Amino acid sequence: MRCDQTAAWQALQTHAADFKGFDLRQAFAQDAQRAQALSQAAPHVWADLSKNHTDAATEALLLELAAQTGLAAHRDAMFRGEHINTTEDRAVMHWLLRQPVDATVQPGLVDAHQQVHATLDAMLAYAEQVRADDQITDVVNIGIGGSDLGPQMAVLALQDRMLPGKRFHFVSNVDGHELAAVLRSLKARHTLFLIASKTFTTQETVTNARSALAWFQAEGGNDVARHFAALTTNVQAAAQWGIRTTFGFWDWVGGRYSMWSAIGLPIAIAIGAQGFRELLAGAHAMDRHFQQTPLAENLPVRLGLLDVWYRNFLGYTSRSLAPYHSALRRLPAYLQQLEMESNGKRVDREGRTLAYCSSPVLWGEPGTNGQHAYFQMLHQGTDVVPLEFIAVKRPTHHLAEHHPLLLANAIAQAPALMLGRSDAGGHKHFTGNRPSTFLLLDELTPASLGALIALQEHRVFVSGAIWGINSFDQWGVELGKVLAQDIHARIASGDWTGLDASTAGLLARVR
Ligand code: F6P
Repeated sequence: MRCDQTAAWQALQTHAADFKGFDLRQAFAQDAQRAQALSQAAPHVWADLSKNHTDAATEALLLELAAQTGLAAHRDAMFRGEHINTTEDRAVMHWLLRQPVDATVQPGLVDAHQQVHATLDAMLAYAEQVRADDQITDVVNIGIGGSDLGPQMAVLALQDRMLPGKRFHFVSNVDGHELAAVLRSLKARHTLFLIASKTFTTQETVTNARSALAWFQAEGGNDVARHFAALTTNVQAAAQWGIRTTFGFWDWVGGRYSMWSAIGLPIAIAIGAQGFRELLAGAHAMDRHFQQTPLAENLPVRLGLLDVWYRNFLGYTSRSLAPYHSALRRLPAYLQQLEMESNGKRVDREGRTLAYCSSPVLWGEPGTNGQHAYFQMLHQGTDVVPLEFIAVKRPTHHLAEHHPLLLANAIAQAPALMLGRSDAGGHKHFTGNRPSTFLLLDELTPASLGALIALQEHRVFVSGAIWGINSFDQWGVELGKVLAQDIHARIASGDWTGLDASTAGLLARVR
């Protein structure tokens, strides 16, 4: 049933009206069990939700909403391989990429599971071959969106485990400044280009790949088979480029869910086959948690329901993210695509206009940098923005002074937001009562990163499922692509006919 037609939705609306005076400080004072009741462990991640604008009654109503909208059934349909991506008539099975080889899968998925492992083995063998090849010093990933953000985020996150002697570059933008700057630092005979594109038709990637190939040949490179590999579902298109090393994946892997597939090859080259398998295992542990744990203790469910509560009942329009670990500095960009490309929809699965809001705006920067930039607004601005901290207990460096300071800052910000400051008035007054979530990892390892990312994937699934939208298509990016083609042709032709005056004026200026 559509979420806004359920009894739970009506009850949540009434509850939200009663909730207007909710104050975190009072909530803690009145309930000694609050921190414990709203904290929980999940694989590799410990979460404290207690500094959020929620309580036991809210969670109970949200669980009713989950029951009345059929969340568990929708989740189970995904894990059965049903075509829940209805507008593209596809299954949604990024989770299958993380199923161990000896897992029992249902009869209909045996073939897919075997293909996953055959491709994984081949890709990891290739990764090890590249790692052992001293002549290859530079790996350049050319891809955009899901074919860039996941590998880039993970290679950075796991940089301490990176093989010495190899440099990784990520070229995504069609802006030639990006590719030109990378090419300046390369030697053709020492470079491996990975052309990463699910469709192999994306304008940016095709343009960058064409220029990289031309540069390689102009620099005297002739062994395309050795210096170019393609990661794609469209193996035929890659072959037309003369690329013979290809690793495939399947239409049931969405671009923003694809770092577990062949798209993860840069990660595998960076951290090795064993490390990549650990990444998959961490994500798989979170899959099992999501699939098997009762909803009330299911961390992606609790986070996803909180997102719905904030968006639809308390009216918070954005969520900020602060990873207190500089190696996680691309995580906000990665999660922006995950959340906003998945849930930035205005119609439900049947195509009916939504009568309620969907995806929040997601944004953020690593701490402590954000504290000296936009945290001012989080503390004293007119909007309430829930903040999600991600911290890591043990560092991988030996600079003794730093990590306690970093953690102290993260841990101090959460009560600062909540408690505020009333001993001063006017400009120095902090109202407090600002919500936050704290996620803690013991260490930043391939396994914990895998679990953290799978947690985020599933929480996005949960809110999307409650909203009744298809979180797995992205029609909203098409219009811009079509118009860019038209405008590109007009830059060459100088034909402004039919354009609005503003667009024609811009074109006249750039031409
Ligand atoms: O334009 C959006 C998008 O389709 C994303 O969903 C995707 O991750 C990205 O473009 C790249 O697509 P591809 O991997 O097919 O090049």
